[in-house]
Amino acid sequence: MIFSMENYTKKYFITTYGCQMNLHESEKIAGILTSMGYSLAKSEDCADVIVFNTCCIRENAEDRAEGNIGALKQLKKARKDVIIAVGGCMTQQNGFAEKLHKKFPFVDIIFGTHNLENFKSLLTKKLAQKKSVIEVLEKETEIVEGTPKTRTSYPNAWVNITYGCNNFCTYCIVPYVRGRERSRKMQDIVSECESLIKEGYKEITLLGQNVNSYGNDLPDANFPTLIERISKINGNFRLRFMTNHPKDFNEDLIKAIASSDKVCKSVHLPVQAGANRILKLMNRKYTREDYLEKVKLLRKYLPDISITTDIMVGFPTETDNDFYDTIDLVKQVEFAGAFTFIYSKREGTPASKMDGQIDENVSKKRITQLIDLQNSINRKQSESYLGKTVEILCEDFDEKKNMYMGRDTYGRMAYFTSENNVIGQFVNVKITKTGGISLLGILQ
Ligand code: SAH
Ligand code: SF4
Ligand code: F3S
Repeated sequence: MIFSMENYTKKYFITTYGCQMNLHESEKIAGILTSMGYSLAKSEDCADVIVFNTCCIRENAEDRAEGNIGALKQLKKARKDVIIAVGGCMTQQNGFAEKLHKKFPFVDIIFGTHNLENFKSLLTKKLAQKKSVIEVLEKETEIVEGTPKTRTSYPNAWVNITYGCNNFCTYCIVPYVRGRERSRKMQDIVSECESLIKEGYKEITLLGQNVNSYGNDLPDANFPTLIERISKINGNFRLRFMTNHPKDFNEDLIKAIASSDKVCKSVHLPVQAGANRILKLMNRKYTREDYLEKVKLLRKYLPDISITTDIMVGFPTETDNDFYDTIDLVKQVEFAGAFTFIYSKREGTPASKMDGQIDENVSKKRITQLIDLQNSINRKQSESYLGKTVEILCEDFDEKKNMYMGRDTYGRMAYFTSENNVIGQFVNVKITKTGGISLLGILQ
């Protein structure tokens, strides 16, 4: 066959930073590009369109993105036709698009979180003009349904239930870059889940900054009801959701989790801090006692539920005693896992203007202590798995370990070998060894 340009499909490459919501948003950008005839490139070097979907939750997320964008200057010099696009939470910040354009004039498209669904028209516009396309909408729009998606996380599928956030925790940039909370219609969510299960997806993860307030802006919808509706869909699948907010996490939801054989028995319930004074300064709207009460209620209905969390150290004015309150809470709850962060000052948030910013060395010491404690809890919990057989949904093949991997209903990761490709299958694995948080086992 003679090679001609007609046989050449244009290629895209997307780098995503930040949370699951951003990962899913990248699946939408990929879907739009696929619908335009593009296919996935193996690397940036052979891509015609390179997209960075950015995050600004902490300073290091921004630094990494800027570093990687800057590194493309040479590539753009060598291949002038390549289109570089930067979007997401980082570019959505006030005045950031202009700053980015000045710093990296070779970037072709700058867009925000509110016009991602318009990526096709942004790209078409850029292909027709020399100058960069910079379009960041100030405010959120109505929810856009039906954006094509090229999913990348089989057997799991992400499903948005809310966009934006109304909580304004004082440290957090999300409400400023994602706009006010909007809920998708229950029917749209349920239909999407039905199609996904028909297509063969085995796990659905519902996404929202605070899934518990789902439906507050709709006449007749709430989160427990949504869980019940999705649980009724026929098929063998698991249901997960994130993130819960302790102030809105309630008994109705606990009952819905307990009565569904589809909902995984693991709940991500970010506590952030263990001292009431700090929780108040964070505007979290619950006390340490409220949090412990909810954990107790959850364990009353579901004694073996696994609870994971997010914790921050070094919030302005945090004293050693405040930090020990966090340590004490972690010891009491015995989380199944914790994402730990050092507070990062975000411009435009109330906490960035607070007196008493904490020295980084102090924060580093605190986070090390916290991680050590959580690791010891994880080791203890992993040991209790030894000799047990657990049901794992096989998610992937780990090239480095040369093993398949997947999680049980509690979210615990297990590795095992198998002669057949079992990705997307529920398999039984007998746990024979533990390595910190993850488990090793033999396929039964
Ligand atoms: N909506 C979710 C998560 C949002 S971001 C929730 O409310 O839990 C994920 C985590 O990043 C947060 O739970 C918090 O622990 C952390 N985070 C948010 N802003 C931060 C900041 N300025 N510095 C450090 N960590 C931050
Ligand atoms: Fe940020 Fe708080 Fe909203 Fe979570 S609930 S996204 S931490 S403001
Ligand atoms: Fe997610 Fe980062 Fe934005 S955590 S919502 S991508 S700021």
